[in-house]
Amino acid sequence: MKRLLRKGIENLTPYPPGKPIEELERETGIVDSIKLASNENPLGPSPKAIMAIKENLNNIHRYPDGSCYNLRQKLAQKFGLPMSKIIVGNGADELIGLVVYTFLSPGEEVVLPWPTFLLYEKVVEGFGGKRVTVPLSNFSIDLPAILKAVSSATKIIFINNPNNPTGKALKKEELVHFLHSLPSDVIVVLDEAYIEFATDPKVASVVELLESYPLLVALRTFSKAYGLAGLRIGYGFASEMIIDGMNLVRQPFNANYLAQVGALAALDDEEFVNKTRTIIRDGLEFLYSQLDRIGLEYMTTQTNFLLIKTTLGAEETYRRMLREGVIVRSMESFGLKDYIRINVGLPEENKRFMKTLEKILS
Ligand SMILES: Cc1ncc(COP(=O)(O)O)c(C=O)c1O
Repeated sequence: MKRLLRKGIENLTPYPPGKPIEELERETGIVDSIKLASNENPLGPSPKAIMAIKENLNNIHRYPDGSCYNLRQKLAQKFGLPMSKIIVGNGADELIGLVVYTFLSPGEEVVLPWPTFLLYEKVVEGFGGKRVTVPLSNFSIDLPAILKAVSSATKIIFINNPNNPTGKALKKEELVHFLHSLPSDVIVVLDEAYIEFATDPKVASVVELLESYPLLVALRTFSKAYGLAGLRIGYGFASEMIIDGMNLVRQPFNANYLAQVGALAALDDEEFVNKTRTIIRDGLEFLYSQLDRIGLEYMTTQTNFLLIKTTLGAEETYRRMLREGVIVRSMESFGLKDYIRINVGLPEENKRFMKTLEKILS
C-alpha cells in the first residue's frame, strides 16, 4: 500500500477527531452518553437556520450557487467589506487546505505554533510543505518567536486566535504589531474559528488590516457560535488577489445548498448567538469553580472549551470517562499528555462531567 501513495504522505496518520456519540454507543452499548470533545454548540443549531433549511428542502435537486452570492453579500454587509474579499468554504477546514493548495509549493516553509489546531500541519505535510514549529510560551502563541522563525523560505504562517487547544488569545495590538513586522511576501492565515466567544475586549479581529496587510487571510466558521458544524460551512476574508487565487483551485460547488441557506439565516440569529455566549460564560464559571473546589489545574479560556490537567494522564482519563459515557478529548496527540480538553456543555452536561471526573479520579 505505502508504495502506491504519493511520495511524502507515507508516514502521515489520519486526523484524530473527537469520538462521535453514535460510535461510542455502538461499541459499548451505553445509551445516554454525552460528547464534550469537538467544541460544538451545546444549544444545538440556530433555530432560524433550521427553519430556513426546512423551507428549502424542495430545492436540493439543484446545484447550489457556486459563487455563494447571497451569503457573501450578507457577510459583506455585516463586516463592511466588498464581496470580492470574501470566500465561502465547506467548513473553515476546506479553506485551510485551499490556502495551502493555492500558494504553497513543495519544499516551501510554513511556520506554525505548537500545539495548535492539528489540521494545519496535516495539510502542510500532505502537500509536501516544510513545517517549522514554534512552541507556545506559557500556553500562548509566541509571536516574537514566530517572527524569529520566519526566513526567506517562509511562505505561510498559521495563527489560531484564540488558539485551539489552549483557549488563550492574542490581543489585537500584538497582532497588528506582528503583521507590520513581517516581510511583505509572507501569507498569514489567521484562523478565528472561536473569535465570537472571546470576552476580553482587547482580543479582537484584525479584519480591517486587510488593506494594510494584503497577504492576511482571516478564517471564520458557522460550526461553533452558530451551531452548524454538521452542515460544513465557513468563510474567509482576504485581499482580492488572494481570493482570486483560491478561486482557481476551489471546487465549483464547494459550499452545499442547505449549508448556504442555513448560514444565511443564522447570520440574522443574533438572539441565538447571544444565548450561546451566555451559556458558555455561565458554564465556564461553573466549571472553574468546581475544578477549583477539587483542586485541579485548568486554563482560563477565551473560547467555548478549556484544558484541564489531570492526575491520571490524558489517555487514561479519556478512557475512564468514556466508560462512563462522557466523551472528552485526550490532548496526547497535541503533545499535552497530562491534559484533556472539554467544551462547555449544557448545565446538566457540565454537572455530569464534573461528577464523572471526580468519580474516576477518586
Ligand atoms: C481552530 C479551528 N479552526 C477550524 C476548525 C474547523 O472549522 P469548520 O468546522 O468550519 O471546518 C476548527 C474545528 O474544531 C478549529 O478548532
